[in-house]
Amino acid sequence: MRQVGFVFFLLVLFSCQKTSPSLCDSDKELKDIASFPIGTTEDDVVANWTTAIGGKYFNRITSENVLKMDRLAQSPDSFDFFPLAKMSREANNAGYEALHVHTVIWHKQLPQWISNYPSQELDDVLTRYCREYAKAISQTELIRITGIDVVNEALNEDGTYRNNLWFQSMGRNYILKAFREFSSLDPNFKLFYNDFNLALNPIKLDAALDLCDWLRSQGVRVDGIGTQMHINIHEPSANDLAQAFEKIISRGYEVHVSELDISINPYNKIEASSDKLLQQQAEKFHEVFRLYSELPKKYQYGITLWGIGDGDSWIPTEFKRFDAPLVFDQNYSKKPAYCSCLRALEK
Ligand code: G3I
Repeated sequence: MRQVGFVFFLLVLFSCQKTSPSLCDSDKELKDIASFPIGTTEDDVVANWTTAIGGKYFNRITSENVLKMDRLAQSPDSFDFFPLAKMSREANNAGYEALHVHTVIWHKQLPQWISNYPSQELDDVLTRYCREYAKAISQTELIRITGIDVVNEALNEDGTYRNNLWFQSMGRNYILKAFREFSSLDPNFKLFYNDFNLALNPIKLDAALDLCDWLRSQGVRVDGIGTQMHINIHEPSANDLAQAFEKIISRGYEVHVSELDISINPYNKIEASSDKLLQQQAEKFHEVFRLYSELPKKYQYGITLWGIGDGDSWIPTEFKRFDAPLVFDQNYSKKPAYCSCLRALEK
């Protein structure tokens, strides 16, 4: 409780500081300037749908939670893809042009029944789930689906496979089976492996690339790598970012900066003024946008912010600390980071 009080105190302190240098007054929009899609995520719980703010600033939306397995797989024999149809309609109404599906196979946000399910039968569940998911995607109308995170976070930081329930049942073949079920979809639906810390940890990035190469060698389609990008004002460096992007494209994969947010308070210890932190954050956003915009066009799937306003971010809830990691503040005013992203794209 004390911690919640402290977080609230920081929030008030932060939002009461003088505002002029801490806002961006440009009326240009990233999505109108970028030559690649600019995405965001919105949660049905946050329910920004009614304000339609997202479609004004972003042209693609990623499903933050509604298309994960706990929402779609009621039982081993019953999958309900109504949330996909609902989201397509709402995203279209909110003015988005495209939808990125996140995420099919993951070790989190699983349905409760799965923890008691016999491990040797998960193979069958995974195949049927992926097959029906692919079919639902191919039948989606009202919005253009451009890509799918087929498998999420299958690797540990040391490059070994995460020992999740899928891995315990099928070894790394679960990843292959999942991608196989999506591979026959129209190639306009781009297929992604998505993971975090790839720009910070070259061992993990190498393992992700080796995994994707192995998948391709087995005859399945993998179009790109989602680099998540939950980073902070201190790291990764511009050099680390550039090297990671370069490595991914040199191996023939598109890059999706899939879950971008930049923490200003990664160690839960505010040591600078809000203006200084927002400036540092703007510089880091500028690096990401500049380096990404320098990539050859055919490798640019797009940049997706993990939320619109700071009040929508998963970080304060998950880590129980104050943070403001996005390009809009909690009132949906543009922060300096928004202007710096615009500058990076205008170069
Ligand atoms: O749906 C319940 C709702 O019924 C309940 O009233 C409410 C009370 O807290 O909780 C709701 O579930 C929450 C869910 O988000 C929907 O809001 C969960 O508690 C909460 O844990 C969940 O957090 C999500 C998190 O994934 C779960 O791991 C975040 O919103 C989402 O941003 C985050 O996204 C992940 C990506 O999928 C993968 N990469 C990392 C990223 C950040 O963790």
